[in-house]
Amino acid sequence: MDYNPFREGLGHSHRSGPVTVVIFGVTGDLTRRKLLPALFALYRKGVSRLKVVGFARRDWGSDGLRQRADEILHATPDATDEQRAAFLQQLEYVQSSFDQAEGYRTLSELLQSGGDRLYYLSTPPQNYETIITQLGQAGLNNSSSGTVRIVVEKPFGRDLDSARALNRLLAQFFGEEQIYRIDHYLGKETVQNIMLLRFGNGIFEPLWNHRYVDHVQITVAERLGVEGRGNYYNASGALRDMVQNHMFQLLSLTTMEPPIDLNADSIRDEKVKILRSIRPIAFGDLDTYSCRGQYDSGYYDGEPVPGYLQEEGVAPDSQTETFVALKLFLDNWRWSGVPFYLRSGKRLRRKVSEIAISFRSPPLELYSNRHPSMTRNTLIIRIQPEEGITLTVNTKIPGHTTDMRPVNVDFAYGSAFGETTLEAYERLLFDALVGDSTLYTRRDEIEASWQFITRLLEGWQRSETQPQLYEPGSSGPQCARDLMAADGRRWRKL
Ligand code: BG6
Repeated sequence: MDYNPFREGLGHSHRSGPVTVVIFGVTGDLTRRKLLPALFALYRKGVSRLKVVGFARRDWGSDGLRQRADEILHATPDATDEQRAAFLQQLEYVQSSFDQAEGYRTLSELLQSGGDRLYYLSTPPQNYETIITQLGQAGLNNSSSGTVRIVVEKPFGRDLDSARALNRLLAQFFGEEQIYRIDHYLGKETVQNIMLLRFGNGIFEPLWNHRYVDHVQITVAERLGVEGRGNYYNASGALRDMVQNHMFQLLSLTTMEPPIDLNADSIRDEKVKILRSIRPIAFGDLDTYSCRGQYDSGYYDGEPVPGYLQEEGVAPDSQTETFVALKLFLDNWRWSGVPFYLRSGKRLRRKVSEIAISFRSPPLELYSNRHPSMTRNTLIIRIQPEEGITLTVNTKIPGHTTDMRPVNVDFAYGSAFGETTLEAYERLLFDALVGDSTLYTRRDEIEASWQFITRLLEGWQRSETQPQLYEPGSSGPQCARDLMAADGRRWRKL
């Protein structure tokens, strides 16, 4: 059945009043790239009671916001001018700095008409505390005429202490059921499909454990560099930017036990157990289990590109990693002894996010001595691009020969369902509006992931080893290959 927010609930008229999304930091990049297009899409699909209030410091006014939104949404495929004009009329703007009580009073007046509210924190994280406190003090954290929820963008903290502090602050003013910590990877169709693949089919689960799985590789590689986000990125690095959130979500969905049902908490109960079972990396083992890299200057697609240290906002002696590779173990019954290799980096050869599950070889090597090209069966879940699933299978080459080679059994979303997959932000915003937190991160998940990450960051800080340089357009630094080679394995080709 087609996805239809109207039918699913939000368009129903038994709920009175508008559905208002208040975006703090509406003048920022995320609003332009993701939030406004997603809200416009929801509006066109039937969430007609939608109102959007932008809250920011700049002197834009509602007309200014509408004009900018018009420019952003102009090129929306399949949207008519009338739809766009109608949507623009739903936009309002509150000009205020985040610490001015006056701004929140103006906001409160705008919200007088009642209905459901969703606050979206899309500012730099140093503003979160002020905004949350001001919302609470203005009494905007609850409403008698509808639901009130708050979406918190990443980064959610920068270590365990700051994440805990943010959780405590949120809990002062909002109930956990009102809090939506976003991780846009969970909004991707292919990520949601991991659970369905595992638990909606009978053939995978029996093999999905240490008895049959040799190892797992999770890759999130990007072509882009830090692209004008040097300031943010330099205080973050690949471990905080990608592993603590997106990659740990991929890891936990791939390895969790089946939940008892599909309720948000049942699923998150299982995911958090995985995060708690990741074996910490001891200080003395850092170089065996982790590798850091930084992209060098050079050529990318034939064009000269700056190295990370030459990027704007980056200190010339920065030790921030733009690439990270890890070898992890999950100390639980199902995965005991199975290595999980994770890598993520910027300015690499290709943009690709995938999970590759490599199964053990057959118990008796009837063929492999004679056929060195035989490979382990590998199930590859392609998160993006070329979304789909591939299983490699060794096959006899037809004819008077006993030669074999691996072939792919392939499923591609594009050819099976057409090219239209739902934008992650559209799905996630919709879920927050209807109160489904399944695809959002719970308090204990965030804290469990920071527990592991913080310890690793502290180790790196004390360590003498520095990030290794790697060439733009390569597959990362030498230490990543060494980490695998030490186990007699290789990364999948980028
Ligand atoms: C963001 C990171 O969360 O995810 C970015 O901050 C990164 O640095 C982006 O580029 C990758 O997302 P996607 O959806 O393009 O894989």
